Amino acid sequence: MHILHVVGARPNFMKAAPVYRACVARGIRQTIVHSGQHYDANMSDIFFTQLGIPQPDFNLEVGSGSHAQQTATIMQRMEPIVIEQRPDWVLVYGDVNSTLAGTIVCSKLGQLVAHVEAGLRSFDRTMPEEINRLLTDQVADLLFTHSEEAAENLTSEGVAAERIHFVGNVMIDTLIRLLPQCEPPQFPGVNGRYVLVTLHRPSNVDNPAALHQIMRALERVDQSLAVIFPVHPRTRRRLEEQAYKIDNPQLHLIEPLGYQEFIGLQRNATAVITDSGGVQEETTFLQIPCLTLRSNTERPVTVTIGTNKLIGSDPDRIISEINAILAGNGKKGAIPTLWDGHAGERIVDILMASHL
Ligand code: UD1
Ligand code: UDP
Repeated sequence: MHILHVVGARPNFMKAAPVYRACVARGIRQTIVHSGQHYDANMSDIFFTQLGIPQPDFNLEVGSGSHAQQTATIMQRMEPIVIEQRPDWVLVYGDVNSTLAGTIVCSKLGQLVAHVEAGLRSFDRTMPEEINRLLTDQVADLLFTHSEEAAENLTSEGVAAERIHFVGNVMIDTLIRLLPQCEPPQFPGVNGRYVLVTLHRPSNVDNPAALHQIMRALERVDQSLAVIFPVHPRTRRRLEEQAYKIDNPQLHLIEPLGYQEFIGLQRNATAVITDSGGVQEETTFLQIPCLTLRSNTERPVTVTIGTNKLIGSDPDRIISEINAILAGNGKKGAIPTLWDGHAGERIVDILMASHL
């Protein structure tokens, strides 16, 4: 059997790693295609090293661009590779533009496609990811889900039950495997408790007023807390555009971190403030209070079962929620079903069974 993995953006690498490892353990031939959607060393290369994935066999070097440019260029550059490789299965991960582009190319070539992390829905079509999720799930042949509600979403869209497999959470596979090696890096001036921040959703960072308001709130958190903010390149660009000035030594804006460093910080944080999809899940597993600066989530299990709270981006609410956590009233949670470190193995076993 030959499996071709399509990856491209930071969250894809944590999801592909456990599937890649499960394939290695079963002696399966593999090809990795990297779209090049993310290309900075600390948004891409570092994860291949830390997660133990080999260098991609193909890098399409698409780089940044509008949605149409990025998606179309990935499609054009991927098609000849898939025609030449003719894998038995193509695996696409998550909800980024590389996911959708890979799915369209392969399904039109008659290649079998499996979507890992299928069925997530925010029901908010202003999010580019929601469009990618809806379209990918319509045409992929097999849909691997990480929560019961994801299967319900698919069923309500008319997807046949035999295409859906509830396998658990691959991102948590990576977390469980690497957690013993994840220690927080030291920062000058940070000796005690801290809040960890990550933000990159266009709805929060592409609107100058919204971003300004969130930054002001981060500068107002209780003096007993440092604020450590590894800044995503989209957000960095937006802060530079508005020449945002920080004169508060409590707030540490740093470059995006490697996986081990970032998980090391998450596991020891007093609270995490985020709009990331994956971070909502990781904090639930780590049982760290998570304040999500959004009004919806495609991962409701992190709210109903986990430690996640959707709080929007009102500055007073951000401050009052942090104060509640400091007062010992952070949200407690449990770990969702099948977030157990074995999702990647289940996926590969199902693919092998489907191949017979
Ligand atoms: C993308 C995904 C988003 C995912 C996020 C994870 C889509 C539509 N969006 O958003 O779902 O949550 O990745 O991080 O697929 N840039 C760099 N260096 C890089 C990559 C990007 O400087 O290595 C800058 C460029 O200015 C670029 C901007 O970041 O224009 C945005 O990158 P892009 O991949 O388009 O979207 P993300 O916001 O990263
Ligand atoms: N992450 C990281 N370094 C950082 C910020 C995030 O390694 O500086 C990891 C995080 O632990 C999670 C993944 O990146 O595993 C989430 O990716 P991201 O937030 O970029 O995308 P999303 O999940 O929102 O699609």
